[in-house]
Amino acid sequence: MQLTVNGTVHDVDVEDDMPLLWVLRDEIGLNGPKYGCGVAACGACTVHINGVAVRSCQTFVSDVDGPVTTIEGLGTPDEMHAVQAAWLEHQVAQCGYCQGGQMMQAAELLSHTPEPSDVDIDEAMSGNLCRCGTYPRIRAAVKTAAKTLQGT
Ligand code: FES
Ligand code: FES
Repeated sequence: MQLTVNGTVHDVDVEDDMPLLWVLRDEIGLNGPKYGCGVAACGACTVHINGVAVRSCQTFVSDVDGPVTTIEGLGTPDEMHAVQAAWLEHQVAQCGYCQGGQMMQAAELLSHTPEPSDVDIDEAMSGNLCRCGTYPRIRAAVKTAAKTLQGT
């Protein structure tokens, strides 16, 4: 089957019920999406399909119905996405394992909620767990990214 990932079309020869996460990591070689729980409970594997944040560990590859974006494709080679820049500014990451998923979830939030409240942020990010407890910095970075995207 063919998958478009970060703007590139890939031919992959895999079983229909292979999780998208395995395809991305083992077949295409994108290691940004992480394996955390495998049961859609931690968010480490979050990617976008058609711009919507999904848990790739629980998405069969045959159910992918549009272009996939991973953290590697969130920005461009020349410019980080505002979320990535804000994460850097706030030095959000500790061990970093969860952070690709966190940024993908945050980017999706800001794509439809340009001025998120604390409640909006907490609700949107509630399925993305961080063992290192970086939640206060995540919230601050989301607010900074929102301002950047609004040009303020
Ligand atoms: S690895 Fe997919 S949600 Fe945890
Ligand atoms: S930064 Fe370590 S799990 Fe989130």
